[in-house]
Amino acid sequence: MNILYIFAHPEPKSFNSAMKEAALRTLNELGHEVKLSDLFAMRFKPVLDRSDFLQPKRTDVFNPFLEQMNASKNGTFSRDIMDEMEKVRWADMLIFQFPIYFTGFPAMMKGWIDRIFAAGFAFNPATQSAYGTGLLKGKKAMLVMTAGAEGSLYSKGGMHGDIHELLRYMTHCTLEYTGLEVLPPHIIFGAGKMSEERVDREMHTYTAKLRSAVPSDRE
Ligand SMILES: Cc1cc2nc3c(=O)[nH]c(=O)nc-3n(C[C@H](O)[C@H](O)[C@H](O)COP(=O)(O)O)c2cc1C
Repeated sequence: MNILYIFAHPEPKSFNSAMKEAALRTLNELGHEVKLSDLFAMRFKPVLDRSDFLQPKRTDVFNPFLEQMNASKNGTFSRDIMDEMEKVRWADMLIFQFPIYFTGFPAMMKGWIDRIFAAGFAFNPATQSAYGTGLLKGKKAMLVMTAGAEGSLYSKGGMHGDIHELLRYMTHCTLEYTGLEVLPPHIIFGAGKMSEERVDREMHTYTAKLRSAVPSDRE
C-alpha cells in the first residue's frame, strides 16, 4: 500500500517524533511504500493566501474558494501545494499524526488541510452530492493524536466531553467530507509527562495498532 504520513510536531526529540519514527519503521517492515510530510522540518507554509495561486483568476479581489477551483482545474497552485497534492494522489492511505491543541489540529496541520484539501481537488460542492462522494474517495485515513489530558477528562460527563464527539469535525466534517474512509483514531492521553516504561508500552501499542490497521501487503 502507498502511505502518506503527515506529521506536525516542532521538536525532533519529542514523544511525537519518536512515535513517528517507530511508525515509519513498522510500515516499512510491513512492506508498504511510505512518503513522509514532516511539516515543521519542511518549513511548510500553513497559511492559505494569494501566493498559493500562480495565475489568479481575479486580481481585483481575492476569493480563496474560487481561486482553489481555478487552480485545481489548471494546475496553477504554488509548487509546494502541487508537490503535496502529488503525494496525496499517489497515496492509498493518509496517516495524520499530531499533538492536539485546544482539542483540534495544531495550526500547522490545519494549514496543510486548508491548502492541500483544496476545492476542486479534495471536494467540490458543485458535483458532490453527499458525504462519501468527495474527490478523495477510494483512499483511507487515520488520525493519530497525543493529548496532555487524561482520558477521563475526555469522556462523556468528563470536563471536556467525549473525545469521539469532539473529533467529529475532523473525522466526519473534514476527512469523510472529502470521501476518505476514516479508520478509528489512535489517541494517547496523558502524553505530556510519561515514565520511560509507559513510553515503551505506548510505542508497542501504537506499532501493534498499525500492524492490524494497515496489514502487510505481503500477506
Ligand atoms: C497550544 C497548546 C494547546 C494544547 N491543547 C490541548 C488540549 O486541548 N487538550 C489536551 O489534552 N492537551 C493539549 N495540549 C497538550 C499537548 O497535546 C501535549 O503536550 C502533547 O500531546 C504531548 O506530546 P509531545 O510530548 O510529543 O509534545 C496543548 C498544548 C499546547 C502547546
